[in-house]
Amino acid sequence: MNVLFFSSKVYDSTFFNAANQAYSHQLSYLEAPLNKKTALLAKEHEAICIFVNDTANAEVLRLLAEGGIKLIALRCAGFNNVDLEAAAALGIKVVRVPAYSPYSVAEHTLALILTLNRKTHRAYNRVKEGNFALNGLMGFDLHGKTVGLIGLGKIGLVTARILKGFGCRVLGYDVEKKKEFDEIGIEFTDLAALYANSDIISLHCPLTPQTSHLINRSTIAQMKQGVMLINTSRGALVDTKAVIAGLKSGHIRYLGIDVYEEEADLFFEDLSDRVIQDDVFMRLLSFNNVLITGHQAFFTSNALESIAAITLQNITTFEQGKPLENEVKA
Ligand SMILES: NC(=O)c1ccc[n+]([C@@H]2O[C@H](COP(=O)([O-])OP(=O)(O)OC[C@H]3O[C@@H](n4cnc5c(N)ncnc54)[C@H](O)[C@@H]3O)[C@@H](O)[C@H]2O)c1
Repeated sequence: MNVLFFSSKVYDSTFFNAANQAYSHQLSYLEAPLNKKTALLAKEHEAICIFVNDTANAEVLRLLAEGGIKLIALRCAGFNNVDLEAAAALGIKVVRVPAYSPYSVAEHTLALILTLNRKTHRAYNRVKEGNFALNGLMGFDLHGKTVGLIGLGKIGLVTARILKGFGCRVLGYDVEKKKEFDEIGIEFTDLAALYANSDIISLHCPLTPQTSHLINRSTIAQMKQGVMLINTSRGALVDTKAVIAGLKSGHIRYLGIDVYEEEADLFFEDLSDRVIQDDVFMRLLSFNNVLITGHQAFFTSNALESIAAITLQNITTFEQGKPLENEVKA
């Protein structure tokens, strides 16, 4: 099929071109994101391939449908950026990559926890400058700490297994109870108990109307004094202004985020020669106990190989008119 990629980077074309040897689709790559200004560029293609910060709202979908697009292939797991009802009404199918490497995101979660705790980012800079003083670098043993995981799907369960290896007590909350909880040793609990008892809280649930701003002033108030908060899931799970207030008061002692609610204007681009206009983000950057990565948790070679192979298979399945195993519906 003729497929146009939006928001594509060199690493996308590298991994997709390699995987496409086995499929022979016609792949074209655009660096521009999908939005109402760029949607018409998809004319004369049959499918588009988009990523986490592309906009596929009703207006954009209408333009895509007018241009003849029949399929949107998400090269990611989350689909909160696509208006699924509008897509269905226009006869556009939407497919995604439901699972690639849960290890990539779970291991990055641990990287954020360990870096914030043991301050290896600060130590690296100090040692480079010949400063071997330890003041300000003290951490705590992860062993014996209580970690609360919200969302125990593929990534949450891998994160739980890793944390059990460190000797943590793992509390978990999910809308569904799963058989793995007992096997891993996760104590299933409600959100109130998770907030009240966790030294570290990590988010692994999807962004939905129910989970939007799940972390807000009222839920932060229920957390332990000095809690560490980690979000590698979706930015809008967290009310950033409420978290800043928590950091200023010291209630939140550490924050590690790979996602940010207004990241679409920032992440995946080199903005180092520009003045960043987002004052909330700049306030976050000013704290020395906040660690931000730019949506890179998924970014391992294993994950990219798997994302490319599954996306191309989704496109082939659609082309052959077979049932779409990875379709997302409203
Ligand atoms: N930072 C990154 O690079 C990156 C990469 C991949 C995925 N993600 C994010 O991680 C999230 C989790 O991915 P996954 O592969 O584990 O998904 P998954 O679908 O396997 O698991 C999600 C879990 O959340 C649970 N859930 C749904 N609504 C909930 C609610 N209201 N409260 C608590 N739990 C709820 C579901 O029951 C499920 O068990 C994705 O939604 C995505 O937003 C981020």
